[in-house]
Amino acid sequence: MPSLVEGTGSYTPPQVVTNDDLAQRIDTSDEWIVQRTGIRSRHLLEADELPSTMAIEAAKRALDDAGRSPADVGLVLVATNFPDMICPGTAPFVCEALGIEKAPFFDITAGCTGFVYGLAVVDGLLRSGVFPSALLIGMEALSRVTDWSDRRTCVLFGDGAGAAYLQPFDGERGILGSAILGDAVDKTFLLHMPGGGSRQPASSDTVAGGGHFLKMEGSGVFRHAVPMMETATRQALEAARLRLSDVDWVVPHQANLRIVDALVRRLGVDPERVIVNLDRVANTSTASIPIAYDEARRDGRIRDGDLVVMTAFGAGVTYGAVVLRA
Ligand code: ACO
Repeated sequence: MPSLVEGTGSYTPPQVVTNDDLAQRIDTSDEWIVQRTGIRSRHLLEADELPSTMAIEAAKRALDDAGRSPADVGLVLVATNFPDMICPGTAPFVCEALGIEKAPFFDITAGCTGFVYGLAVVDGLLRSGVFPSALLIGMEALSRVTDWSDRRTCVLFGDGAGAAYLQPFDGERGILGSAILGDAVDKTFLLHMPGGGSRQPASSDTVAGGGHFLKMEGSGVFRHAVPMMETATRQALEAARLRLSDVDWVVPHQANLRIVDALVRRLGVDPERVIVNLDRVANTSTASIPIAYDEARRDGRIRDGDLVVMTAFGAGVTYGAVVLRA
């Protein structure tokens, strides 16, 4: 039986930072950022807010939306690249806060594709019958690893979380096909944070050298992102034995508007059928697709029975797509 997304929820921190706010701190402008990225503002955590609180809030909203309680949850997965702590990750903090006592949990690190990877993993596990249900969360606190003096990266990112509660469904709805893909050769450093792992443990040198900030090769990312998301989209549709003309909505990773526009042109889909919220939330990495999907469900654009493709790429590099009937 396919795995149905029964409920969704999302959370972005209350603090909104506009391009003009950034222009007061660094040498940039609203015009440059909007033209190159489509981003106008982003939500950022305050210094005393925990990243996991975003995941917990999104998870609560997804459970409420599905009419489920923490006792119904059979498995918890958190897709994130920057967990509260490297050990024990973010999933245990979610389980502790929600009082989920019996379910196993783990984090998935797969760049901005983490939520899409997570959907494919959850679908496989639910189809195998080992778990009765799953809570999947995409959470990212990019503000915590952003160099706020580097105008080439800091204008791009935002913080947030999105969640989905899934259960097997005896019918025509749910996840119908997926393609999770990767290509690490010569691409591992396109997006990376060198310090703080076991290769370069935190030290005064790694701090002084900016090793705890996310590094990005912007043009390299751009070059690979579009063809990879196109390939993933087409492969996932093939796996589902469906065509692009069957699709009601495309929910792409909200990296930036030029990437989304280029993807839309290559796929030949109607731009009106593409969910975009990056102007308000910027790039929230692995949280971007579940936030966009939740918003579009709640405002009535995506309705039960609609055919949706989610497609993403991210650090590693990873890429992938999932086709589901809402
Ligand atoms: N404000 C003003 N000027 C800027 C800014 C800024 N925020 N950032 C860069 N510039 C300047 C540069 O210094 C450079 O000036 P110079 O020619 O005097 O040196 C000029 O603008 C052009 O810089 P480029 O880096 O070549 O700008 P580009 O047109 O490539 O745009 C961007 C940069 C927006 C990052 C682009 O490369 C891009 O969209 N890349 C994709 C990256 C991406 O989306 N990453 C998302 C994260 S990854 C993920 O989600 C998986």
